[in-house]
Amino acid sequence: MIETDDGHLAELIAEYEENGWCHSPFRFTGPAVSLLRDSLDAICRRGGPEVVHEPDSTAVRAVHGCHEFDEAYAALVRHPYLLALAEALTGTPVYVYQFKVNLKQAREGQAWPWHQDFAFWNAEDGLPTPAAVTLAVPLDDVHEGNGPLMLIPGSHHVGYLGPGKITRGDSGDWRKNFAADPEHVMDDARAQELIGTFGSTRATGPAGTIQAFHPNIVHSSSDNTSPDRRALLMVSYNSIDNAPPHPTRPEFLVGRNTDQLKPRWDDHLPLERVP
Ligand code: SIN
Ligand code: MN
Repeated sequence: MIETDDGHLAELIAEYEENGWCHSPFRFTGPAVSLLRDSLDAICRRGGPEVVHEPDSTAVRAVHGCHEFDEAYAALVRHPYLLALAEALTGTPVYVYQFKVNLKQAREGQAWPWHQDFAFWNAEDGLPTPAAVTLAVPLDDVHEGNGPLMLIPGSHHVGYLGPGKITRGDSGDWRKNFAADPEHVMDDARAQELIGTFGSTRATGPAGTIQAFHPNIVHSSSDNTSPDRRALLMVSYNSIDNAPPHPTRPEFLVGRNTDQLKPRWDDHLPLERVP
């Protein structure tokens, strides 16, 4: 087991507070990524209510809540390093509020418009505050061409910018928010203004990389026009004191067990230092 307790968390906290995102010096090894990919493939083949497809297509766009029924993902969300990172960045004990893998299939995966995650979480679930963090682990190499996340670093300082173009309960269909034209998005002109102030960056990197995103950072991603899939796993950890009081979306989208998650080491999910 690699030693991760080397004092780097203080630097990551500072980077996260300044930019609204940060990049860990550790990543999951090739065998760990293979294990997680195998689980993903099995879930996609199996289908189910938590699997979302691209419009009028059999291409899987996203899968949700897999940590509740898949052993590898159950171990991943309890990984001692991920939990330590989530607790360091939120400053509180956490539980899994949301788990998803967005797949962006080769040449078929569609864009995600500019938005803040907190706009969705507040409007859809009544998440009280942005006392949460999303840890993202790509399961494929992410490059400029396969639809990486585009981030506006520092945009979280502007705070919550409002519920977006449509407010709570308008469609009543949670699937609407997993298509390329979801509710609660930000108009492009506002995003361009923020880019003028803060600049923008793409979250590229090899499979297994670990990045963290603030719920108020403004982000988007483009269509995948490349021959390479871009599966991006995202675990959103929420402070145990910030659970939405009356969530109505399905449990595979909004975790109902809000007890502090306890770390559990799993030999199948080793880390390595990013060279
Ligand atoms: C998201 O914003 O939650 C997902 C974006 C993506 O998968 O590219
Ligand atoms: Mn998002």
